[in-house]
Amino acid sequence: MPRTPRAMNPVQPATHTPKSEALAAPRDTLTITDNRTGKQYEIPITNGAIRALDLRQIKVDPREFGMMSYDPAFNNTASCISHVTYIDGDVGILRYRGYPIEELAEKSTYLETAYLLLFAELPNATQLKDWIWHITHHTFIHESIKKFLDGFHYDAHPMGMLISTIAALSTFYPDAKDIFNKDSRLKQTWRLIGKMPTLAGFAYRHSLGMPFVYPDNELSYPGNFLNMLFRTTELKYHPNPTLERALDVLFILHADHEQNCSANAMRCVGSSHVDPYSATAAATAALYGPLHGGANEEVLAMLMEIGSVQKVPDFIKRVKAGEQRLMGFGHRVYKNYDPRARLIKRIAYEVFELMGKNPLLEIALECERIALEDDYFVKRKLYPNVDFYTGLIYQSMGFPMTMFPVLFAIPRTSGWIAQWEEMLLDPEQKIARPRQIYAGQDTRSYVPIEQRA
Ligand code: SDX
Repeated sequence: MPRTPRAMNPVQPATHTPKSEALAAPRDTLTITDNRTGKQYEIPITNGAIRALDLRQIKVDPREFGMMSYDPAFNNTASCISHVTYIDGDVGILRYRGYPIEELAEKSTYLETAYLLLFAELPNATQLKDWIWHITHHTFIHESIKKFLDGFHYDAHPMGMLISTIAALSTFYPDAKDIFNKDSRLKQTWRLIGKMPTLAGFAYRHSLGMPFVYPDNELSYPGNFLNMLFRTTELKYHPNPTLERALDVLFILHADHEQNCSANAMRCVGSSHVDPYSATAAATAALYGPLHGGANEEVLAMLMEIGSVQKVPDFIKRVKAGEQRLMGFGHRVYKNYDPRARLIKRIAYEVFELMGKNPLLEIALECERIALEDDYFVKRKLYPNVDFYTGLIYQSMGFPMTMFPVLFAIPRTSGWIAQWEEMLLDPEQKIARPRQIYAGQDTRSYVPIEQRA
């Protein structure tokens, strides 16, 4: 049975309860006995969690700092209370503001889904029209950005160019620093969502040595992106409707995913009250990593390295020996099939029908077949994630592998902004500054160089 999202309860102050009362009727508290002192502590449980700060009262010596929780990579730490996205990893559920991803993928569009993530409700017809108008009229970038792009080598990775030019946008819009001004935040939101495809399209064209293609405001969000990538000598680019819809659904599936590495980067960097362009550049950098959004590119490289269906068993052997990772498999939260992977697989077949089957598909299907049967993967609950099949689609659509993480960053921008704004407006949030457990040298005196070994 899927866990239903928890009702929000007010947080109770922590108290120190004498032993006798601790055995009374069940309460939403945790009783902790410190066996070093015999003292007991009653810690409130709120929303299925305890406040780490409530542990600080647990001390042996009153002069101590107090107890901390230690959780490298935040395996079991909630950094925020969020209303944006809900994932049940055991069952494979993903909902944006309560709407199941399957329904949004089938019935919505990316811009409508972005509106939902940012404003918490689906837009009415007027709101949607207004929203699309503003995004569409913020697709142009300052001409100076072209000079930055010209400075990159022809073979510069488009993610490096994207990270740099997003950060550069902060220098063109100093008003973005006014982060507690709602109108300013909305304007930066239009700009970021509107300009990401343009920055990506220009980066792609730079890598080909082709002239930049400017936005065409008569096209849809995905259609205009395809225009800025693939238009050549024709006066008007007409996107293929199948590819345009496939890209729009892929954008919906990639729009947000609660507190993933790049959303955490957006929140953490944003918590210093920097402008949203700088925070988005940081989030894009986090997404670039091969363990995160860069995995879709790594999956293709892996399938090409395997080379044939016959060589899959040998590769899986190397994975089980710990020599390689089956890229596109596994997830920190999903311990079941990633619901997005299932939907993406369906899109793959639609694109292959039009563009021809990707020859690497058979290798991918064989990897999945073996992995879903093999105890190494079953025991570790390793299933295909969002990145396993996307690369096959992107390659068939004509994208080079280096553009795959860019295709992840563009739609994720709306999720990052939704997470950033929720953090900014959360009265409990302030600058992110984790503690540490110090395991280094104790105090020692400076040694003059002539006395060093
Ligand atoms: C995304 O967080 C999100 O929501 C991210 C994302 C989003 O929408 O924002 O969903 C997008 O980033 C998807 C993930 C894309 N990354 C990959 O496909 C890279 C390959 N997968 C992994 O490296 C790994 O599965 C992670 C990074 C996704 C999750 O890593 P965890 O949770 O830290 O798990 P782990 O590395 O500790 O692995 C646990 C065990 C280990 O084995 P043991 O040490 O127990 O023997 O599982 C093994 C790992 O070796 N394992 C894998 C594996 N992933 C984990 N073994 C082989 N192949 C893999 N892919």
